[in-house]
Amino acid sequence: MSRLLQKRHCGMDLPGSPGCRKKPAMKPRLGLPTDVDPITHVILSAMPQDPAWVYRFPYRREYPQDHYKYTRMLFEYFLDPAYDDWVVMVIEDALESGRATEIVAFGVFNVSFRNKRAHGPGYQAQDRKSHFLCRNWADASRRRLDAFTHEQVEAYKRFFEPIGPEQIHLQILATLPAFQRRGHGSSICKWAMSLARDENLKDISVMASPMGHELYNWLGFQRVGEFPIRVPDEEVELTLVAMMYDPGA
Ligand SMILES: CC(C)(COP(=O)(O)OP(=O)(O)OC[C@H]1O[C@@H](n2cnc3c(N)ncnc32)[C@H](O)[C@@H]1OP(=O)(O)O)[C@@H](O)C(=O)NCCC(=O)NCCS
Repeated sequence: MSRLLQKRHCGMDLPGSPGCRKKPAMKPRLGLPTDVDPITHVILSAMPQDPAWVYRFPYRREYPQDHYKYTRMLFEYFLDPAYDDWVVMVIEDALESGRATEIVAFGVFNVSFRNKRAHGPGYQAQDRKSHFLCRNWADASRRRLDAFTHEQVEAYKRFFEPIGPEQIHLQILATLPAFQRRGHGSSICKWAMSLARDENLKDISVMASPMGHELYNWLGFQRVGEFPIRVPDEEVELTLVAMMYDPGA
């Protein structure tokens, strides 16, 4: 297999191949409610690199307290064991050996397939995200948030709902800028890829923005479509790419 192909598809079937890793990737662990502050730090540091975050929170510099407060609230929810449709996986690392490790990367996954299996077709998915999105965030553009949510829901219905409940959705993934390109994002995704295989799931879905697209492509995710997000009287437009990993492929 050529080096180019290894770089373009680095699934778990290529352990130790030259394109896979510069150093052994750290192993993810389950995120706990007590991790909420370091995780909020990671997201507030990394997400301004993501055009989808910048699009939704154009006033984050003017209203840093709101930006911090509502972002943290969202992660309290994701980390709350009572809301087990969601799981957060984190990675700890240190810039220099010998220094204390800190949380440097995390991923939020929707694993509601477990509750859907346990409770049957009538299971009502947990969704407190809409509660947060209804709030009057001064850091956010409300109209962009609404357009973003609407288009994501429609895209999910179009691309992934027909696959059924036997899937994982990758909701958010971020690595602190100083720790990027060290294998942490892919290590977190590989945790989910392994779970999807072990549980015989049909896919892992994600709505990728540009940096995520590079990573998911490298991991062997397939592009299934793309969709624009735009508020009617605004010129600025965002495009996200729907991607999926098929554990059986
Ligand atoms: C996307 C993100 C999570 C990737 O995390 P990471 O820890 O740097 O990812 P990895 O080190 O595991 O990357 C593995 C491979 O993916 C590809 N890749 C990852 N980020 C890339 C980038 N910015 N540009 C090009 N390729 C990239 C590379 O092939 C990389 O291997 P290499 O470093 O040996 O070339 C990180 O860039 C980030 O937090 N970005 C801001 C938030 C964001 O956009 N999140 C995604 C939302 S969908």
